[in-house]
Amino acid sequence: MNGVNTMSYRRVLMRRLLTWLGITLGMLIPALSHAFEDNMHLGVASCASNVCHGKLSKQTSENVWLTEYGEWSSVNDRHSRSYKTLLSDESKLIARKLGLKNAQSANLCLDCHADNVAQELRDTKFQVTDGVGCEACHGGAKLWIDSHTEPGATHAENLKLGMYPTEDPAQRATLCLGCHMGTKSKFTTHEIMGAGHPRLRFELETFTALQPAHYDVDADYIERKRSTIGFGLWMTGQIEAADTYLGLLQSNLLEAPGMFPEFSFYDCHSCHHPMDNKRWTMAKKNQGLKPGTLRLQDQHFLMLRAITEVLDAPRSAEFRRLSAALLKAGQTSNQAIKKASAELSGWLRARQAEWGSRQTSKAEIKAIRKAIVTLSANGTISDFASAEQAFMGIESLSLYLGDADEVGAALDRLFALVESDQAYTPKAFRSAAQQALNAL
Ligand code: HEC
Ligand code: HEC
Ligand code: HEC
Ligand code: HEC
Repeated sequence: MNGVNTMSYRRVLMRRLLTWLGITLGMLIPALSHAFEDNMHLGVASCASNVCHGKLSKQTSENVWLTEYGEWSSVNDRHSRSYKTLLSDESKLIARKLGLKNAQSANLCLDCHADNVAQELRDTKFQVTDGVGCEACHGGAKLWIDSHTEPGATHAENLKLGMYPTEDPAQRATLCLGCHMGTKSKFTTHEIMGAGHPRLRFELETFTALQPAHYDVDADYIERKRSTIGFGLWMTGQIEAADTYLGLLQSNLLEAPGMFPEFSFYDCHSCHHPMDNKRWTMAKKNQGLKPGTLRLQDQHFLMLRAITEVLDAPRSAEFRRLSAALLKAGQTSNQAIKKASAELSGWLRARQAEWGSRQTSKAEIKAIRKAIVTLSANGTISDFASAEQAFMGIESLSLYLGDADEVGAALDRLFALVESDQAYTPKAFRSAAQQALNAL
């Protein structure tokens, strides 16, 4: 596959000042206000003036920086480039292969590469060419644009008027995954991939850090909102990613036209790799799979397996059984996939409620990291997408445990192996993981 499938850059270690905080998450998930869906979108220009979010230097007298527009429009925040991407030669080629007139006017592309709300929700300054603008994440601003700057305005009031709760880990995950994995109404099918679209991958904590921050999670932030960094963000991201995937598996998207189910639900590299780069491992056999068969994507389930082993050991056999049943169903029939997905999803929802309301200790988080490295070292985590997810998890947790520098050499070795899917080999990843296990 082409070069855009490589991770474009690694997170700069310690770019942000990371503080250790024992975090509980998900306890106060605000009900999504009805207004979010039907609020008018005013356009980036309405947020970007130099008396609002378009200041040139960070303001210290305010809670927020007011330089958000500058951060978003910098080349490093790809959301401000996402519409322009649709004008590129690469997009032109994708559009031609799909038989579209062009990419920049196709809803198929705009739905994720812009804030493509219905015409009647676009105010006078709104421009779809802004790409993934402020309101694609923060919600249409019509009802709160005036009130949110008034002295004494609270975040709770803003939410009531339709601002999106981006600070809530689960809600944030749903938002990002909507474009970074897809929904029932916007999705990168294998036909779109086959035309040349890059493979999608997502990990909430890493991608939150990779998007140039336009805010600080500092003391006043935590007081106004809540702490949103750390283990809780990573774990919630895994639960939501797994559940989003399970939801998509239960939808009509699985029924691709033709004799096969939709390919993009399967592990891309179970079909796409050179024949001398062998991927079959005994760990797969132990899961009840046969060599030479298709596998559904299981990268998020493998992370959840590590979490379950530590936070809920008595249930880990049950989780392994349910996720193995899903992989087997993936080789049986669409009906079997839907049934197994629904069961696994129900199981996860129950764990989310339990895990979300418990305090996780530093020792437990260390043990979860070790479990990911162990699953990598014993060959259970071996497909590229799982190795990539494992790397992101190990790095995220190391940053929060505060020993990323000490284990830096091990992280570097793992990263070098998952940087490109073309150069990836399960064998090298496994041996780097064995070395990492000794370093931990
Ligand atoms: C409306 C759709 C949409 C939403 C919502 C969205 N993104 Fe994106 N994101 C994109 C698109 C499209 C790109 C690719 C832009 C390009 O390069 O043209 C992207 C790119 C990125 C990248 C760069 C990826 C890379 O390989 O360098 C990061 C990081 C990212 N998004 C993080 C997030 C996070 C975190 C959230 C949730 C807070 C989020 N995104 C929400 C559509 C979205
Ligand atoms: C389900 C949401 C979704 C849809 C639909 C979608 N994209 Fe994307 N696209 C993304 C995301 C997210 C990324 C960034 C992936 C990453 O880096 O992790 C991306 C990346 C790209 C890139 C690579 C950008 C770069 O800077 O390397 C191109 C080109 C692209 N998309 C074109 C298109 C075209 C053309 C269409 C319509 C046929 C389309 N996309 C439809 C979500 C989507
Ligand atoms: C890809 C999604 C995304 C886009 C696009 C985006 N933001 Fe944000 N924004 C976030 C996330 C995530 C946070 C952190 C969570 C929170 O505090 O709500 C945040 C936080 C903020 C904050 C709160 C800071 C604080 O201390 O409370 C402001 C203000 C803000 N964004 C303004 C903007 C403006 C203005 C734009 C457009 C120029 C923009 N954002 C574009 C996702 C996004
Ligand atoms: C069931 C096997 C299978 C799976 C799983 C699969 N693909 Fe494919 N893919 C194919 C086949 C078959 C083709 C057509 C190859 C050809 O035309 O030579 C193809 C073509 C492609 C192409 C175009 C290659 C070209 O030569 O033009 C891309 C890119 C691609 N797939 C990406 C992906 C991504 C990303 C995933 C995972 C989300 C994925 N595929 C999953 C079988 C698969």
